[in-house]
Amino acid sequence: MKTIGIIMNGVTGRMGTNQHLVRSILAIREQGGVELSDGTMLMPDPILTGRNEAKLKALAEEHGVEKYTTDIDGVLADDQYEIFFDASGTPYRVPFLEKAIAAGKHVYCEKPIATSYADSIKVAELAEAAGLKNGTVQDKLWLPGILAFQKLKEEGFFGEILSVRGEFGYWVFTGHDTAQPAQRPSWNYRSEDGGGIIIDMHCHWRYVIDNLFGEITDVFTHATTHLPERIDEEGKPYKCTADDAAYALFKTKTGVICQFNSSWDTRVRRDDLLTMQVDGTKGSAIVGLRKCWAQSAEKTPRPVWNPDVDNPIDFYAGWDVIDPGECENAFKAQWELYLKHVAEDAEFRWTLREGAKGVRLAEQSLESHATGAWVSVG
Ligand SMILES: NC(=O)c1ccc[n+]([C@@H]2O[C@H](COP(=O)([O-])OP(=O)(O)OC[C@H]3O[C@@H](n4cnc5c(N)ncnc54)[C@H](O)[C@@H]3O)[C@@H](O)[C@H]2O)c1
Repeated sequence: MKTIGIIMNGVTGRMGTNQHLVRSILAIREQGGVELSDGTMLMPDPILTGRNEAKLKALAEEHGVEKYTTDIDGVLADDQYEIFFDASGTPYRVPFLEKAIAAGKHVYCEKPIATSYADSIKVAELAEAAGLKNGTVQDKLWLPGILAFQKLKEEGFFGEILSVRGEFGYWVFTGHDTAQPAQRPSWNYRSEDGGGIIIDMHCHWRYVIDNLFGEITDVFTHATTHLPERIDEEGKPYKCTADDAAYALFKTKTGVICQFNSSWDTRVRRDDLLTMQVDGTKGSAIVGLRKCWAQSAEKTPRPVWNPDVDNPIDFYAGWDVIDPGECENAFKAQWELYLKHVAEDAEFRWTLREGAKGVRLAEQSLESHATGAWVSVG
């Protein structure tokens, strides 16, 4: 058994607590660590850091974590911690990463790395120049629905993939109706605080499309702020300065056309909060977060256009549920790979440089919106 010290910063937030602390690091501890190639178990040893001692104490006690501190500089100077992880609010990430890199820590962080490409590539280059292992969360790649899709793709199920239609989002209550408080933090709707659906979601779409369908070459986006006012955590109305819906088209090197709608102002009548319809010459799939449904050429119905009668075909029939096999929590799966990368130099492709591409796509999507033109994605 070998331990690896991890500074976990900003984990009192939603993502930090649920996905990174509880479902990843503590789950890894509970299973006895991560097995390295020589059979040694690598046990994460976390210390929680943040600004608010009372919140850190409460979180640590609730989950039986022994160590927490508000003295980030002190803990960065401590050699028993090799890794610095950040899930704080987006605007604070880069200064934290810079400090951690200067202190010689390997770094891993939530997405987006920053709100500007210049900042995100700057930290990627700093980590690379210092020879530090670095990574950013690209969790969607380990979702059961997406793993099932990958399995189908590898089997050649789709023939040639032609197009993808992604639908993402749900209704986020504004909070005006007190019976239905807002279910996401208010900073998400203020661009000055790092909010906006494009910076939030297009950095996911970048690695999803690049890895599943083909590297993005061009983007066209129309963004909007459908709902101009929401209610914050203190019950006060605030002006929404960030985009809350984005309608985007992406061209890829493989020729696959991807169209993604992302919206916090839409009501769901589809199979999941994210679905991607993938149409290929030999088959199609609906890829959700946890499930994937596939229809082969043989099972494809022959509809006839006649709006005067109810369609006799049940379009939901004729789809098979694809089993991806045993799946871990997506965040945990990526954490295990990152820990192996740090401990024994195992392959890890999901670097800060890769994450910076997502920030660049977000920037270029906003540019497309501003100019009304296609933007070539470098
Ligand atoms: N991978 C995903 O699917 C996914 C989903 C949601 C959010 N995120 C990302 O995770 C990050 C956190 O989002 P969240 O929804 O958990 O937000 P949140 O508001 O719930 O949490 C933010 C955390 O940052 C801390 N924080 C804020 N200002 C700070 C400062 N100055 N110094 C130190 N800590 C500070 C807060 O105390 C809190 O712990 C964001 O960057 C967001 O884009 C990723």
